[in-house]
Amino acid sequence: MVKQNFVLKGDICYSPSLKELKCVKNGYLVCKDGICEGVFEKLLPEYIEFPLIDCSGMLVVPGMIDLHIHAPQFTFRGMGMDLELLDWLKTYTFPEETKYADVDYSRMAYREFAHTMKNSATTRAVVFATVHREATVMLMDLLEETGLITYVGKVNMDSDAPDDLREESAEISAFDTVGWLEDIEGRYVRTKPIITPRFLPSCSEKLLNELKEIREKYDLPVQSHLSENPDEVALVKKLFPKAAFYGDGYDRYGLFGKEAKTVMAHCVYCTDDEVERIYNNGVFVAHCPTSNMNLSSGIAPIRRFLEKGIKVGLGTDVGAGECESVFRAIGDTIQVSKLYWRMASKDCAPLSFAEAFYLATAGGGEFFGKVGKFEKGFEFDAVVVDDYELSGLNEIPIISRLERAIYLEADNKYIYKKYVGGNEIDLD
Ligand code: GUN
Ligand code: FE
Repeated sequence: MVKQNFVLKGDICYSPSLKELKCVKNGYLVCKDGICEGVFEKLLPEYIEFPLIDCSGMLVVPGMIDLHIHAPQFTFRGMGMDLELLDWLKTYTFPEETKYADVDYSRMAYREFAHTMKNSATTRAVVFATVHREATVMLMDLLEETGLITYVGKVNMDSDAPDDLREESAEISAFDTVGWLEDIEGRYVRTKPIITPRFLPSCSEKLLNELKEIREKYDLPVQSHLSENPDEVALVKKLFPKAAFYGDGYDRYGLFGKEAKTVMAHCVYCTDDEVERIYNNGVFVAHCPTSNMNLSSGIAPIRRFLEKGIKVGLGTDVGAGECESVFRAIGDTIQVSKLYWRMASKDCAPLSFAEAFYLATAGGGEFFGKVGKFEKGFEFDAVVVDDYELSGLNEIPIISRLERAIYLEADNKYIYKKYVGGNEIDLD
C-alpha cells in the first residue's frame, strides 16, 4: 500500500467539536502523504494535480473507532444474552476462549473476525485477544493484513477462571506476555501491543505487579474493564479490600492512566471518587451501550463524564455486544442516554446525534493520536457510504441522510470505500 496524494469528492460530514457536526455538500477532502489537509468547498490550485476520486452524492465520514472489542468472542456473538456478566463469562465466554489454545481453531475464527472488521466502517480498534500467545500473534498477523490500525492485547488472567483457561501463575502469565512482546517485535506497521489485565477479579496482586513492570519497561498502553456490573463491583470490593474503589485497584499498579495511556470499558457504576480519578489520570472511557443492555449491566452516565471533561469513545464489546458495527453503537448511545435521562437522572440530558457521532470518531480517535477529524494535520481515515438506496422519495439534508444511514446500520451493506492513514483498504 503506497501512500498517495488524492482528493475525495462527496458530501462530507465530520465533527470539529463535541456539539458541532459539519456537512459540506460536494466538498473536497484532501489527503497529502496520508495526512488530511482539510475539507474545501472549492478545490485549491495546489491540489489540482492530485487524482480526484469522485464520490459525488455519497457520504464521506471519518473512520469509526472501536475502543473495545473481543476478537475471540466474535464466534458466539448474538447468543447467550440471558445472563449477567459473571455468569455469562462462566457459561459462554470462558469455554469459548479456551478453544484458542488450538492454533487451527484460532486461525479459522480470527480469519472471520478480521474479514468482517476489514469490511466494516471501523478504521481503528482496541482489541482483546485471549491468554494464548500463539493465537494472539496470529490475530495480529491477520489484522495487520486488513490495513486497519489496531491495538491488540494478549489477555492476562491468573485467578478466578477455569483451570484450562487461567494462566498457572503470575510468573507464567508475565513470562508469556514478555515472550509475546518479543515474538512481535518489529513485525508490524499498523498493529501494536497493549497490556490487557482482563479485569480485577481475574488478576492476582502479584500479576498486577508483574504487569506494572512490563508496561513500564516496554512503555505500553493499557486496556481493561471497569465498574461494569453490580456483582462484579462487589466481588472487587471483596478481593481487593485495600483499594479505595475499583479503579484504584488498577491505579496502585500504574495501570490506570497518567503516563500509561489507558482505556477502561463500561464505567457504569463509578463512584464520585472513581470519576475524579478517571479525569485526573486522563483515562479514556469506552462506552459500550449495546453490551450494557444485553448483559443487563446498566447505563453509563456519559453526559456526566463529558461535562467533567473525561475522554470518551465508543466500543462495540463484541461478543457481549452482538455486532461489530460502530454505527449501531452510535444509535444505542443516543437511545440509552434518553432512557437514563427519563428514568434515572434529569441532570443528564440525552446525547444528541452530533455528540454520539463525535464520540465514535474524534472521541475514540484521540486514543490513537490526531485521528477522527477532517482537519489539517489529522491522519487520513475516511469511510464513503453510498446511501443512494436509503435516500427515499424526498430530498433530505445531508445530516439527515447521515443520521438515517447510521440508524439503519448502513455499514453492513453500503460501504463504498475506506481509507486508513491515507491507505485505501481493499474491500470485498
Ligand atoms: N469483564 C471481564 N471480561 C469481560 C468480557 O469478556 N466481556 C465483558 N463485557 N466484560 C468483561
Ligand atoms: Fe469487554
